[in-house]
Amino acid sequence: MKNSVLAALADAEAAFVTRNPASRAAHERACAVMPGGNTRTSLWSEPFPLCIASGEGCRITDVDGHTYVDFLGEFTAGIFGHSSDVLLDATVAAHKAGINLSSHNTLEVRLAELITQRFASMDLLRFANSGTEANLMALTLSRIHTGRTKVIVFERGYHGGVFTFAGGGSPVNAPLDFLVLPYNDIAAAEAAFAEHEIGAVLVEPMQGAGGCRPATREFLAALRDLTQKHGAVLIFDEVQTARMAYGGVQSLLGITPDMTTIGKFFGGGLAFGCFGGKAEIMAHMDPRNPGSVGHAGTFNNNTLAMAAGIAAIETYLTADNLAALYARGEDLRARLNALFAEKGAPYIVTGMGSIMNIHGTDPEHDIALRRLLQFDLNARGQHLASRGLIALSLPIGEAEIAGFLDCVAEVLDARADLHAAQEAA
Ligand SMILES: Cc1ncc(COP(=O)(O)O)c(C=O)c1O
Repeated sequence: MKNSVLAALADAEAAFVTRNPASRAAHERACAVMPGGNTRTSLWSEPFPLCIASGEGCRITDVDGHTYVDFLGEFTAGIFGHSSDVLLDATVAAHKAGINLSSHNTLEVRLAELITQRFASMDLLRFANSGTEANLMALTLSRIHTGRTKVIVFERGYHGGVFTFAGGGSPVNAPLDFLVLPYNDIAAAEAAFAEHEIGAVLVEPMQGAGGCRPATREFLAALRDLTQKHGAVLIFDEVQTARMAYGGVQSLLGITPDMTTIGKFFGGGLAFGCFGGKAEIMAHMDPRNPGSVGHAGTFNNNTLAMAAGIAAIETYLTADNLAALYARGEDLRARLNALFAEKGAPYIVTGMGSIMNIHGTDPEHDIALRRLLQFDLNARGQHLASRGLIALSLPIGEAEIAGFLDCVAEVLDARADLHAAQEAA
């Protein structure tokens, strides 16, 4: 019986292959010039990923002509949907006024003002080109500030391609002095501080890529106390969670870290990263100070990302919009869990606000169950990650949510026998 999940998955995969000849051809072409046809591992899924030709609002259309409601929202970065005139106009205006102006420009200061006023932890900030780079610089500054190399991170944490701590870490991780602890485990953190000289703690207020597992308030408060007591730097990676409220999760919890990193949507759809923190920490990068350290980057202040970021913040990332998006996500998560329970389906969904992840409740078949649900929903015009990630964008309204829930109900009914057999096994 257990193998019936795998048999159903094989059938669903075969149907996907038949339905998507143009995506398959695009993949085969890409394989000749990129390993596995891929330049971004998280987009890979068996048997080949869809090749998307265009997007509008909260919908995307693939090269075979299928249109999907985009419930993945570019892994949280695509909070605006796909065709914002506001972002387009801002980017075009910046382009017309001259890209990269060989000096400081008028936009970078405006964007820095808009961001520092949102985050209590950012007296000063600097820009980078990705969340990964922002975390690298925050860790480097922490080391310079404390003179200590050891960094606490958490199992299943994800802070970028070279800072990934699922399954015991990755061979491509940056060779820093990491101590990987269990998440939400206060005793383990206390023991680590008692035993080691810790320079920094890098933590996501909710683990995003790690399965949308929120930290408890007690855990983050304990990290705040421990870092304060031992003179270590507490860094909140809010690259994903900054969307939970105007001032990020730190404002919801009333816990202020020493440094914060953001990225994704704060660049208005362009490549972006940013790290900021206490003035005394950021002062190490003040070029007026003797002995200051450098932080270079040709595109750190590129006018296109600066302009798009300003437009994004002023138009979309308002307190009201983010509160409404948070509420919509909480509502969807509750309705999905109610549906799974009502249908006796082997799934749950975890998360916070507009970011959530579906999991299979049978550990042995968790991955297969998620992929099966994703194939079934994909066949009904709903796009989410094969690992079960959903990230709502602002253009998704109640009509799309209701349509999505109808499709989930339909899929669960169609798989009722399979789920019942699995339950019995
Ligand atoms: C929590 C978190 N931190 C950092 C990053 C890295 O950002 P980027 O992909 O822009 O390098 C990500 C990306 O998904 C993320 O989810």
